[in-house]
Amino acid sequence: MTITIVGHGYVGLVTACVFADFGNQVNVIGHTQEKINRLNSGDPIIYEPGLKELLQKNLSAKRINFTLDFEKPISESDIVFITVGTPPKINGEADLSAVITVAHEIAKSLKKGFTVVSCKSTVPLGTNKKIEEIINKNKSAGTEFAVASCPEFLREGTALKDTLLPDRIIIGSESDKAKEVLINLHKPIGGKRVITNLASAELIKYASNSILATKISFANLISFYCEKTGGDVETVLDGVGLDHRTGRNFLFPGLGYGGSCFPKDVKALLAIGNNLGVDTSLLKAVEEINKQAKENMIEKIIKFSPGKNIAVWGLSFKPDTDDIREAPALYIINLLIKKGFGIKAFDPVAMENVKKSFKGNINFVNDQYEAVKDSDALFIATEWNEFKQIDLNKVKSLLKSPVIFDGRNIYEPITMKELGFKYYSVGRI
Ligand SMILES: NC(=O)c1ccc[n+]([C@@H]2O[C@H](COP(=O)([O-])OP(=O)(O)OC[C@H]3O[C@@H](n4cnc5c(N)ncnc54)[C@H](O)[C@@H]3O)[C@@H](O)[C@H]2O)c1
Repeated sequence: MTITIVGHGYVGLVTACVFADFGNQVNVIGHTQEKINRLNSGDPIIYEPGLKELLQKNLSAKRINFTLDFEKPISESDIVFITVGTPPKINGEADLSAVITVAHEIAKSLKKGFTVVSCKSTVPLGTNKKIEEIINKNKSAGTEFAVASCPEFLREGTALKDTLLPDRIIIGSESDKAKEVLINLHKPIGGKRVITNLASAELIKYASNSILATKISFANLISFYCEKTGGDVETVLDGVGLDHRTGRNFLFPGLGYGGSCFPKDVKALLAIGNNLGVDTSLLKAVEEINKQAKENMIEKIIKFSPGKNIAVWGLSFKPDTDDIREAPALYIINLLIKKGFGIKAFDPVAMENVKKSFKGNINFVNDQYEAVKDSDALFIATEWNEFKQIDLNKVKSLLKSPVIFDGRNIYEPITMKELGFKYYSVGRI
């Protein structure tokens, strides 16, 4: 099949490389010449394990190409995927301007015959109908199309694995023909299928991210109880999670959820609920607890740090990605800087992105040990694997005082005590 993918971010590029690898001809449309040049030369721009190799393999096989042009690729395609960003507006609603712009462009270039236009971007209820209206109004005679919602569930850091072996593929459309085309396209991919209508597909995505965010906030709520009572949140959640009805997945106490999806998708579901007159107090509480989780760590650092020079390990919103959107680390660093703290930070892959967009003054260093050298305390903000079995005696010898604030509970409190650290983690005394 010939496929066009509009957008080459975490979703677009991964999807493009995977479908190209199955033997499809894939065109990817972007809107910055410099990025298109880099992609055509084999540089994925973003960091995602295994992506560079897959991109280069499919470029060599001439199954994938990147362009600014809409007309030619779309006029040759059986399927067009929209994967552009849908960031939050100030009022929490999803900003659909890129989706709308792209829908106009697609309408102008559809081929004679049938095309499926499928939105992978996370969009509020009714957006696919809007895309359909725009295309219908602006398409040329003789072109036929149907829209389909195919929401994406990949996780940054494991995006390739998630795309090849997802838990489920959701295909929502009012057109049987579009459903059939997408069912066929996804044949080499694992996971269960949910074939449904547009509204259900759109809602499945927001409901999925919101329940995961709710689990994280619930775990943090329990950590607040533990800190007040002497309970150990990890043990409590182990006990809870052994109930197969609940499970332990995503019961992660820590600094709260971040990234480009959960914060904006909870906000968008809230905004959708408010517009529909649905009671959204559960989602409001999820957001409030998420903020409180970060505030609690800031309070601990201000109260217990022996000095104002803090080493920070980890800047990305989670390990194995360079994505720093809504990263708890940056929220906390920003507030600490305002309180007069000096920050020396290390992250295995995200430092370049922070340098480009973070306004405050951070001293970036090349490894974990350099960060802690002569710092008053260490704050662990992201649980990269390389921090988990580090030489803690060396860390202790380099720090001015043996004080660690662990926002991700990566060490055992008892071990840290035995090693002579003052160790402040989340929901554990
Ligand atoms: N990142 C994730 O883990 C993830 C997972 C599931 C779903 N999603 C959803 O998928 C969508 C994309 O997310 P992402 O993380 O890939 O975003 P991203 O910011 O990494 O990428 C967005 C892409 O859209 C392109 N773009 C924007 N406007 C354009 C235009 N007018 N013409 C052509 N290209 C344009 C940008 O250049 C960029 O390549 C969002 O709706 C997001 O919520 C993301």
